[in-house]
Amino acid sequence: MSELNAVVTGGAVRIGRAIALRMAVAGWNVCIHYGQSEREAKQTVSELELLGVKATCVPADLNQPVSAAKQVFQHASDKLGAVSCLINNAAIFREGTLASTTELEWDAHFETNVKAPFFLSQEFARQCRKGGSIINLIDWRGTHPVPGHVAYAQTKSALVAQTRLLAQELGPDIRVNGIAPGAILPPPGKGQEVLETRAVRNPLRRVGAADDITRTVMFLLESPFITGEIVHVSGGEHLAAGKSYGA
Ligand SMILES: NC(=O)c1ccc[n+]([C@@H]2O[C@H](COP(=O)([O-])OP(=O)(O)OC[C@H]3O[C@@H](n4cnc5c(N)ncnc54)[C@H](OP(=O)(O)O)[C@@H]3O)[C@@H](O)[C@H]2O)c1
Repeated sequence: MSELNAVVTGGAVRIGRAIALRMAVAGWNVCIHYGQSEREAKQTVSELELLGVKATCVPADLNQPVSAAKQVFQHASDKLGAVSCLINNAAIFREGTLASTTELEWDAHFETNVKAPFFLSQEFARQCRKGGSIINLIDWRGTHPVPGHVAYAQTKSALVAQTRLLAQELGPDIRVNGIAPGAILPPPGKGQEVLETRAVRNPLRRVGAADDITRTVMFLLESPFITGEIVHVSGGEHLAAGKSYGA
């Protein structure tokens, strides 16, 4: 069994699950954090174990960031031992304008997308002494904000700042980087066509795949001189923010 232990938040489904499985192939034991997706979390744990690593899962509501962070790291260290990688993947993503955004929506976005990664990083740093890595899943909207998801975009901008700030505070022992995806998976309940309409807006004229993200996670984990970096995995969509490249 490998001694590399990771926590992946929101790791039961979608991009988080793909990251967990790719890390397991590279020998990482994984603690999957989940919110509602208990059945999928247990299924993912079984698949991780089939890859020959240790795996476990833990529920926690990231809308209660401080208690959730303690719960996740208590569970991970009990089941796996000290954790040397934290993937802050879980997030909420809802539409909203200045006019339509309620205080409840604002708070839910900031609790889950900014405060939770912060307090998870705090718990992580308390028990990780050397050679650790935090990877935050951001969004190109975090570096190039555009209207449409006003609370969400601001949380991702805050997560860019958090990444750069913690990279300075946690060096030299822990590296902190971010991945800023573009169109990778349609929001739950929506079809692939939602992304296809965006493909014309990026220079590579196509949507991405979860593999594009997992490849970047592995690149960052294997790049010990990179910290405080935000890697856009967006087909260049951020370069064209607010503009159409046409057909
Ligand atoms: N999909 C894309 O194309 C895309 C594009 C740009 C950026 N991103 C970023 O990449 C990351 C992964 O994307 P995704 O589309 O795979 O994410 P997602 O499906 O929207 O969310 C991932 C997981 O976050 C968990 N979560 C949300 N709120 C929670 C809460 N209060 N408590 C506990 N867990 C909570 C949910 O876990 P449960 O299901 O267990 O409740 C959910 O499955 C996100 O940070 C997202 O913002 C994705």
